[in-house]
Amino acid sequence: MLVQITENFEAMSKLAAEIVAERVRRKPDCVVGFATGSTPLGLYKELIRLHRAEGLDFSKVTTFNLDEYVGLPPEHDQSYHYFMWENLFKHLNVDRRFVHIPMGMAKDIDAFCAWYEEKMVEAGGIDLQILGIGANGHIAFNEPGSSLGSRTRIKTLTGTTLEANARFFKTPAEVPKYAITMGVGTIMDAKELLLLASGVGKSDAIAATCEGPITAMWPATIVQMHRSATVVVDQAAASKLKMKY
Ligand code: F6R
Repeated sequence: MLVQITENFEAMSKLAAEIVAERVRRKPDCVVGFATGSTPLGLYKELIRLHRAEGLDFSKVTTFNLDEYVGLPPEHDQSYHYFMWENLFKHLNVDRRFVHIPMGMAKDIDAFCAWYEEKMVEAGGIDLQILGIGANGHIAFNEPGSSLGSRTRIKTLTGTTLEANARFFKTPAEVPKYAITMGVGTIMDAKELLLLASGVGKSDAIAATCEGPITAMWPATIVQMHRSATVVVDQAAASKLKMKY
């Protein structure tokens, strides 16, 4: 695992964008796994800048997103579909046919999850998976206790996640209770991982991920077992690391 400590959110985002851009230039038809949340927003802005300023070409790139809420249609402003199109895809020259985001409105969720896994295999596997991390060490919607071998599936959201999400919805009844998420095992199948974290709120999770014992109680710790993982953090997120990097 390569740990790269950058000064702040901007520097973290720039370094992450350089890594993604290099992989896309090297293999124009690569398969990239994307995450939502606040952490990758600076990275996405920088990718948009590189596309506009330098013609970074996404026309052959295939994408797979980590997760999506169950019950939210793609046009809902809290859906991860909406997030990805608003914050990234609509600003790039991605080919819609190559974009994959879990379908929160799928009628048969188990069949959808199996299909999603098959699509990743058909695409030749994910070349580079971008990850954020929860303060509790979750990756995608794999909360503490998730099986480290898990595959794409439906998960019940935890009480703290429901509380944190409540502010985005008009009534408590609207807050999604379930999500479709790639499993920890699915994420580990990616050929390369790029995990980002910013802010002191992530410092315990980063310390556990880089230096703690591997445990399902901090799902991100499994990244230690990956053959090609880069962790890019800012100084605040790195503040509880004990080793020198
Ligand atoms: C998002 C995802 C989540 C986030 C994590 C951190 O697709 O899978 O695991 O990466 O919750 O979220 P932020 O970046 O908002 O702190």
